[in-house]
Amino acid sequence: MTTQETTVPVPYLDLRAQMRGIRTEIDAAIARTLDNCSFCLGPEVAQFEQDFARFCGAAHCIGVNSGTSALHLAMVLLNVGRGDEVITTPMTFVATSWAISYVGARPVYVDIDDATFTLDPKRVRAAITPRTKAVLPVHLYGHPADLHPLLAICQEHGLPLVEDAAQAHGAKYHDRVVGTFGALSCFSFYPGKNLGAYGEGGALLTHDATMAARARALREHGSSRRYYHDEVGFNYRMEGIQGAVLGIKLKHLEKWTSQRRRVAHRYHELLADTPLQLPREADYAQSAYHLYVVRHRRRDELKQHLEANRVGCALHYPLPLHLQKCYASLGYKAGDFPYAEKAARECLSLPIYPEMTEALIERVAEVIKDFFKRG
Ligand SMILES: Cc1ncc(COP(=O)(O)O)c(C=O)c1O
Repeated sequence: MTTQETTVPVPYLDLRAQMRGIRTEIDAAIARTLDNCSFCLGPEVAQFEQDFARFCGAAHCIGVNSGTSALHLAMVLLNVGRGDEVITTPMTFVATSWAISYVGARPVYVDIDDATFTLDPKRVRAAITPRTKAVLPVHLYGHPADLHPLLAICQEHGLPLVEDAAQAHGAKYHDRVVGTFGALSCFSFYPGKNLGAYGEGGALLTHDATMAARARALREHGSSRRYYHDEVGFNYRMEGIQGAVLGIKLKHLEKWTSQRRRVAHRYHELLADTPLQLPREADYAQSAYHLYVVRHRRRDELKQHLEANRVGCALHYPLPLHLQKCYASLGYKAGDFPYAEKAARECLSLPIYPEMTEALIERVAEVIKDFFKRG
């Protein structure tokens, strides 16, 4: 028998483990939705919106059908359009930039801070032009962007800040949960997220009642009164079943976040004496550890070694947005954002989820140590 056959595989993510712990609650919540036949929006979604707004400390939460839709609505609500520019990060999931493109505006990339992988406030000022309409940082991997300096720059120039918090439910910036720092904040509830639906889902948060009312209309074909359409809208409604599932899962989120942080701290301890660059929290941050991303120049070999030993891993993200084919027309080239490019070459996401056992964490560390021992 080879070592491979005798060792336990470590999944990159285990959604079944989470579901096992909450299955009875989930079944009851889904049954309620079926009994009500409230399939699109409805009472479960309304309740979840209230609960999630309270959790984040926001006045309004608008449930939608994906994080991408939430970002798109944010751009529409801010009246960003053709010829406008939005300053954002090249090191993120592509949907952050889609929102800007959907309204015909141009993503203007600014390099990341090398330590946190998030938009570097020191570089933002120089990218502002008369066409700039908003600044869109991302709380990448669950680690908040440095919001105070970003907000100061925005205030100086009269620009709204939009948080892409798709990966950062419950992450804290100076002890306050993210999602209410910007004029608008966007969350994704894609199943693998820290707060994940059983399908697609997203939400938009704001303190502004006028924007909230407009967002509610926009997600429902631009109508606040049935069959009367004040502006061209979208079908971005959250499904009733997703609202029900998210309502149950939200009750567990704080516990799951601390369990993720426990896994991250164990990795910190176990991997401290390896040549890997480990993720570090900035002084201002409490990361929600959506991902645990290590860095090394031999990343591709290490990935192969982990996979050969049945340890799941992933790349977030292998190619920064300014070098993606879909954005070739923006005219960026390799070398424009050296920190983002280096991060893309070196990053490797290790398994992390709340239910991850000590044995599995130790197994990941053991396989990594074995890689470096081999030289
Ligand atoms: C940073 C970021 N922004 C936006 C999105 C888009 O969210 P969704 O997949 O729910 O549309 C995601 C999720 O994949 C994300 O990670």
